[in-house]
Amino acid sequence: MPDTGPDTGLAARRAALDHLRGVMMDHRMMSHQPAPQGLSPHDAARAQRLALTVMRHMGRIDAVLRPYLTRRPTLAVQNLLRLGAAELLVDGSEPHGVVASLVEIAKRHPRWSRASGMVNAVLRKLDAEGRETWAKTPPQALPIWLRKPMHKAYGVDAVAAIEAAHERPVPLDITPKPGVTIDGAELLPTGSFRLAQAQVTALPGYDTGDWWVQDAAAALPAKLLGDVAGQRVLDLCAAPGGKTMQLAAAGADVTALDLSASRMKRVEENLSRTQLKATLVTADALTYQADPFDAILLDAPCSATGTIRRHPDLPFVKTSQEVESLTRLQMQMIDHAMTLLKPGGRLVYCTCSLLPNEGEHQVKAALKRHADLTILPIDPVSLGGDAHWASAEGGLRLRPDFWADRGGMDGFYMALLKRG
Ligand SMILES: C[S@@+](CC[C@H](N)C(=O)[O-])C[C@H]1O[C@@H](n2cnc3c(N)ncnc32)[C@H](O)[C@@H]1O
Repeated sequence: MPDTGPDTGLAARRAALDHLRGVMMDHRMMSHQPAPQGLSPHDAARAQRLALTVMRHMGRIDAVLRPYLTRRPTLAVQNLLRLGAAELLVDGSEPHGVVASLVEIAKRHPRWSRASGMVNAVLRKLDAEGRETWAKTPPQALPIWLRKPMHKAYGVDAVAAIEAAHERPVPLDITPKPGVTIDGAELLPTGSFRLAQAQVTALPGYDTGDWWVQDAAAALPAKLLGDVAGQRVLDLCAAPGGKTMQLAAAGADVTALDLSASRMKRVEENLSRTQLKATLVTADALTYQADPFDAILLDAPCSATGTIRRHPDLPFVKTSQEVESLTRLQMQMIDHAMTLLKPGGRLVYCTCSLLPNEGEHQVKAALKRHADLTILPIDPVSLGGDAHWASAEGGLRLRPDFWADRGGMDGFYMALLKRG
């Protein structure tokens, strides 16, 4: 709906500014922020989308705004300008409505009202002159704690390609139950279906549980286990259950474990919708005891830096200290998983991280710690992927800039290991 006057879109824009403050001041991911009060679902969704657009392009937005600012404004006013820039330069919204609405928000706020004239002047200039600078400015850079190890692992050009991929629209990927096809969707060589974004619950097959939403990269770890029909498989760190559903649909006798009771509820709901079965356990993966399993899939908690294209708020919230404690936890989880695995059993270790410390290095260190652990090298081509996805130690390294012409994929690391 086009904006035609100052009152249109005020509530959604104010809520978008609240989201930005929540991420940048309180360091809370959008998904952990309370839902805005008194907003229609349409406005709440719009507020989220606007805030995410600002964060997805923040570096570029700030570069375009810089020449117009004689003094650095407060963070709140800066966010107001950033929001205006995102709407004008990314969304292509009707300029008069955007400027009028944001000036009105500034005017009505006790601490921002003095800046309303500046907001008006800057946004008008930006609308008149900003697009050329926008086109010439590089994409949003990753924070240094993330950029540095990625430069070392992948090189400068690859990191630039990843940063560019983070600014592109994210498609909707679907994992079908065996034999199910999705009309109108692209079938990827790895077996996932891909659509441009769509309202998930309105798609055919949602109510009947024929498929579930899962990024194409995230669908690969469960496939590494091959034919699991009749095998006892432990899905360690299972919620919300994407991989549990894959294993159950493939005929495995699945035990799905997660520490979080609220997230286990989502596994239960997902299994119920898809009419699939698994034994559900709410427990700590570090202390859980059971008879040994034929196979274990460990999708360990991680920095989730492979999902920045979906969660552009992540780089503003996570820290390198947090990643360090996660890598310790991942190591302990691998060690405990070994105690739950039959001799000859297979372990898939995976994380949706772009950091080698949570992927390649973690697996190499596990191989050193456990004399009875070996790696079974993965052939990406046999999975429908590209040969260059293979990593040196025998795992699979997926990056958001891969399959760029098809819409990319989440960053992921996975390895297939064998005990004894
Ligand atoms: C990457 S997510 C798992 C995603 C899931 N495998 C899927 O495909 O839908 C990591 C999960 O680890 C769980 N987790 C974190 N610490 C844990 C622990 N100590 N024991 C068990 N689960 C844990 C989190 O609650 C979270 O659900």
